[in-house]
Amino acid sequence: MSGLSVVILAAGEGTRMRSSVPKVLHPLCGRPLIAWPVLAARAAGAERIVVVDGPRRALADHLPDDVAVAIQEAARGTGDAVRAAADHLHPEVPVVVLAGDVPLITGDAIQALVTAHNRARAAATMATMILDDPGGYGRVVRDADGGVVRVVETKKPGDATPEEMALREVNTGIFCFDAGLLRTALDHVKPDNAQGEYYLPDVLPALREAGHAIAAHVVDDPVLTLGVNDRADLATVRAHAQRRIHAEHMRRGVTLVDPAQTTIDADVIIGQDTVIEPGTHLRGRTSIGEECTIGPASTLVDAVVANRVTIRHAYVDSAVLADGATVGPFAYLRPGTALQEDAKVGTFVEVKNSNLGRGVKVPHLSYLGDADVGERTNIGAGTITANYDYTNKNRTTIGRDARVSVDTSLVAPVTIGDGAYTAAGSVITEDVPPGALGVARQRQRNVEGYADRKTPKER
Ligand code: UD1
Ligand code: CA
Repeated sequence: MSGLSVVILAAGEGTRMRSSVPKVLHPLCGRPLIAWPVLAARAAGAERIVVVDGPRRALADHLPDDVAVAIQEAARGTGDAVRAAADHLHPEVPVVVLAGDVPLITGDAIQALVTAHNRARAAATMATMILDDPGGYGRVVRDADGGVVRVVETKKPGDATPEEMALREVNTGIFCFDAGLLRTALDHVKPDNAQGEYYLPDVLPALREAGHAIAAHVVDDPVLTLGVNDRADLATVRAHAQRRIHAEHMRRGVTLVDPAQTTIDADVIIGQDTVIEPGTHLRGRTSIGEECTIGPASTLVDAVVANRVTIRHAYVDSAVLADGATVGPFAYLRPGTALQEDAKVGTFVEVKNSNLGRGVKVPHLSYLGDADVGERTNIGAGTITANYDYTNKNRTTIGRDARVSVDTSLVAPVTIGDGAYTAAGSVITEDVPPGALGVARQRQRNVEGYADRKTPKER
């Protein structure tokens, strides 16, 4: 949309969250709350986005570089917050004001507001919604002709009469303004209210008195403009956001066997014909290719998964899995793990910072840390890399086509050559050359007649 500025208010104290973390940094489906309106503003084609932060300046590190930050030195109200951003605004370009705590707004909804504003030739257009339970939202007071008169705040008792409390049309906190007129109107706003704050909606009567047109744009779907003031609101909004994310994946050809038992963060990518089984949680920047089966009961965090991968009952953190890899049930892949094509990590196996070559199998009960394993090598049950000597993390290198037998301890740094074997139960402290068998264990000794030497009571 040509010539649009967006201001996002996020300098409030967020006291109702009862948190040491700023409200707009609480995560919603893997992104901080503030990222949601920023992305919506971008989707609406905003030329300029300004976020109003408080004196702690907590937000800059969480915002993209093309977003400007204005500082409101004290939380004196939403009107004062917009004033803090005024120097960033072009007076000739309309400005949309969003709230950092109203995350489900979309680019389309912002454009619809701007279109309504232009059509009404208004100085200010307020997005409103109709709620059955209007709670603590500001109520919209209209005159006999239906014109918007003002907004009455209800957060703290004292501003609204019982009749006003009963109104169901509320201010969403989202507006479109003529930027030049807004600036002048803000100078007329006074903090003479129950909270002693400069309320942004008070610019409406100021503009009206100056003879300008005020419009209201009723948003049909109140979900778009739900606000987050406390953790109960956050849970409500999360459920809606999750539904939106699920619907988008299903539309693109992903099977979610039971969406109600599946959480997927906003930035997750999933390919066509992949099946997500119940109890699965896809977090952060996880990306999954086509024709995979993920779950049941699996968590993937920032995982990169190619095509035709199977992951069952597993926790996968920042691992990279190539085509055809299989994981689980009951496996833990930690950061730095790479599984090449068709590699298999089976039951009760933990892998950290290791590269498992094409077709490698680690079927059961093993820990591989800081290891490189060549193609087609088999790692027997109970193999453990002793990778940490309490000072350094040391690497284990295993060649291709090797056979590491059950219950091998690999005391790193150590190398097992291509095609080499280890004997079951070995503690391998020295390199095993290619093609050799490494045996590192006590020979078995049988004590003949042992049972007969015992008294009947001992047996
Ligand atoms: C506000 C509106 C209310 C509306 C509701 C919709 C006002 C006075 N009230 O109430 O009419 O129904 O939103 O969600 O505008 N902020 C600042 N600086 C401040 C105060 C707030 O930047 O000094 C920011 C907050 O960080 C927040 C937004 O403005 O993102 C709204 O503030 P909040 O205190 O949550 O207002 P509400 O009580 O929800
Ligand atoms: Ca709010």
